[in-house]
Amino acid sequence: MSSYDVIVIGSGPGGYVCAIRCAQLGLKTAVVEGRDTLGGTCLNVGCIPSKALLHASHMLHEAEHNFAAMGLKGKSPSVDWKQMQTYKQDTIDANTKGIEFLFKKNKIDWLKGWGSIPSAGQVKVGDDVHEAKSIIVASGSVPTALPGIEVDQKVVVDSTGALELPKIPKKLVVIGAGVIGLELGSVYARLGSEVHVIEFLDAITPGMDAEVQRTFQKLLTKQGINFTLGAAVQSVDASKTKAKVTYKLRKDDSEHTIDADTVLVATGRKPFTDGLGLEALGVAMSDRGQIKTDAGYKTSVEGIYAIGDAIDGPMLAHKAEDEGMALAELIAGQHPHVNYNVIPGVIYTHPEVASVGETEETLKKQGRAYKAGKFSFMGNGRAKANFAADGFVKILADKDTDRILGAHIIGPMAGDLLHEICVAMEFGAAAEDLARTCHAHPTYSEAVREAALACGDGPIHS
Ligand code: NAI
Repeated sequence: MSSYDVIVIGSGPGGYVCAIRCAQLGLKTAVVEGRDTLGGTCLNVGCIPSKALLHASHMLHEAEHNFAAMGLKGKSPSVDWKQMQTYKQDTIDANTKGIEFLFKKNKIDWLKGWGSIPSAGQVKVGDDVHEAKSIIVASGSVPTALPGIEVDQKVVVDSTGALELPKIPKKLVVIGAGVIGLELGSVYARLGSEVHVIEFLDAITPGMDAEVQRTFQKLLTKQGINFTLGAAVQSVDASKTKAKVTYKLRKDDSEHTIDADTVLVATGRKPFTDGLGLEALGVAMSDRGQIKTDAGYKTSVEGIYAIGDAIDGPMLAHKAEDEGMALAELIAGQHPHVNYNVIPGVIYTHPEVASVGETEETLKKQGRAYKAGKFSFMGNGRAKANFAADGFVKILADKDTDRILGAHIIGPMAGDLLHEICVAMEFGAAAEDLARTCHAHPTYSEAVREAALACGDGPIHS
């Protein structure tokens, strides 16, 4: 038996970041992880592998659609799916090994196996029971199943199965127009699949700024993705090689079917807390299966904390990371703070979609007077040169004080562009602060400045 200050259960972005910060702050730390590699869903079967496939398939799209116009002539590359899978795996390995290196560097023990908590202060891994003053549950989430639809990971897959299909499907039906459905849907659309997305709501990407939703759907449709909105999937009838998806249109209750070689179920994720023993310990849970915590990530049981996808809030790697760092600092006696009003959200399609803070819809609901400064990438020199002029930057600012309340970008490198606005929001900046900051020319970032200018006397290039 070993004794630790902190044992973290789960090595995803929440858990591993928390452990590293604990170790940096002088706490004796161990992490329990049952997978063969560190990094959780994000590094092994989520953010990282999907980005490798998004990058590779985007390169193909560029070669097919833009190379010739740039004077790069020749046959477009053909897809070697096996090699693309190897590239994806190499990307995963480089990242998971990186976490292993960081654990060694920070003297964090990796307790290999699936952990449970027999009692507060104890963590069981295999036959060993370890002691810890603080136990942190960072056990993440798993895809939610649709009632009556069996995911066999062959014909009917979730996000994990969709990353390692044996071949590129001719016809892919995606259930759910959320982040996972659209990212993986665009990968396969670019690789040649006929992609059909079926979404329950009347718009794609729920919760996003409505103008961005409309533009995004238009651009994805132009890329060849088909959408059926306002449709509830009823059943999936799968054989060994094919499937039939039945859905009902909400507007008239009419029933329709669509054939597919592969069906991707991307209808959300739920907290993963199986086998931890939380129920027996009396850890309070919400109706949605989330571990209940207070503002300091304490559960209802003394000495047990929880962070990331297993608790309330958006299921995002960076939200979990922030909570992990904050909790480590709290345990070490510091006074950190996570600002939940400034958690960015990014969809890594092409163009990317990025958003932070309020949307026009939430501001209208609050009855808050605001102004929207918008700038199209059509007015950005760099974007035009790079065939990336689709989309816009929109900054929402308080009508009277000019304080930035939210921002929504659809366009090239949107996920990276968003962060200067996040920093500005953390500093309580006004749109004018961004507008008066010199931005290098020619960069995509100039579009952010122009949107900030549009909150005042107007942008220059539109
Ligand atoms: P999601 O919650 O983003 O979207 C699920 C969609 O499925 C919703 O639009 C919902 O209306 C629809 N839906 C549900 N039941 C349906 C039915 N029976 N028929 C038709 N449509 C139905 O969930 P998603 O995409 O699975 O992602 C899960 C989580 O992972 C999210 O919290 C997401 O933010 C996170 N994630 C984030 C990424 C990023 O930050 N780039 C990448 C991948 C996942």
